[in-house]
Order: sequence, then C-alpha cells, then structure tokens
Amino acid sequence: MIALGCDHGGYSLKEEVKKHLEERNIAYKDYGCDSTESCDYPIYAKKVAQAVASKECEQGILICGTGIGISIAANKVKGIRAALCHDCFSAQATREHNNANILAMGARVVGPGLALKIVDTFLDTEFSNDERHIRRINMIENDD
Ligand code: RB5
Repeated sequence: MIALGCDHGGYSLKEEVKKHLEERNIAYKDYGCDSTESCDYPIYAKKVAQAVASKECEQGILICGTGIGISIAANKVKGIRAALCHDCFSAQATREHNNANILAMGARVVGPGLALKIVDTFLDTEFSNDERHIRRINMIENDD
C-alpha cells in the first residue's frame, strides 16, 4: 500500500499519480489534501510519514509546490527517509543507497510526464542491501 499526500500546490499532480497507480494495479491510500484550496503541507507530510513509519503503508509519495517543505516535514518523523527527486537517476539511487521510504516531488518543478517516470523508478527499484549503505542508514537512524 502506497500512502499519498499533498498540499494545494501538489493536488493536481497527486490526482495524476493516483490514476497512474490505478493503471498499474498498485493500491494506495490518499491522506489528502482534497482540493486546490490553500492548506498547510506539514499536516499531510505528517499523516503520510506516520502511515509509513507505523508500517500501515510500505512507502509514501508526497507532493507540494516545490517538494521541499513537504520532504523537510516528513523527515521529522522517526524512521522516515523522504527523498526529494526531480529526476530518475536520483529516484533510483535513493532507493538503492538510502532505502528511501517516501518520494517527494514538486509539482511546480516537474511536469506530470517526468513525475510519473520518477514514481515508477522509485517504486520499481529495490534497496541494494549493501553493507555500507545499511551502516550509513543505521547511523542516521541511531543519530550517531
Ligand atoms: C505553497 O505555496 C508552497 O509553499 C508549498 O507547496 C511548497 O512549495 C513548500 O515547500
């Protein structure tokens, strides 16, 4: 199950992502927001981050205008590694190296065509399970 969240700036792209996931038969849960009316991205970042941290959902996708605010907010939740990606190389690398569990994107930065490729790359790439990457992720998790 993929947790989805956005603010007003990301609402339209989130709707595109939902359509795309449906076409791919990938289950999702939409944590809002539900319109283009102005709202506060930390609310939705927290909902999605908590759903992923609690294992209610395996991964999350968060979208705001730039992707910056929503990724900063999501990364405050313990166990969350939210990666802001606007290209497929970064989306692949962050799964392989960082085992990122949330993809963040900015709807005012990338068009829907590229955004959906980034989503596919993120969801289809496995963590490398490489010992050095595990060590570094643990260093982040344990704050050492
Ligand atoms: C909202 O206008 C905008 O600030 C927000 O979507 C995001 O870009 C924040 O980082």
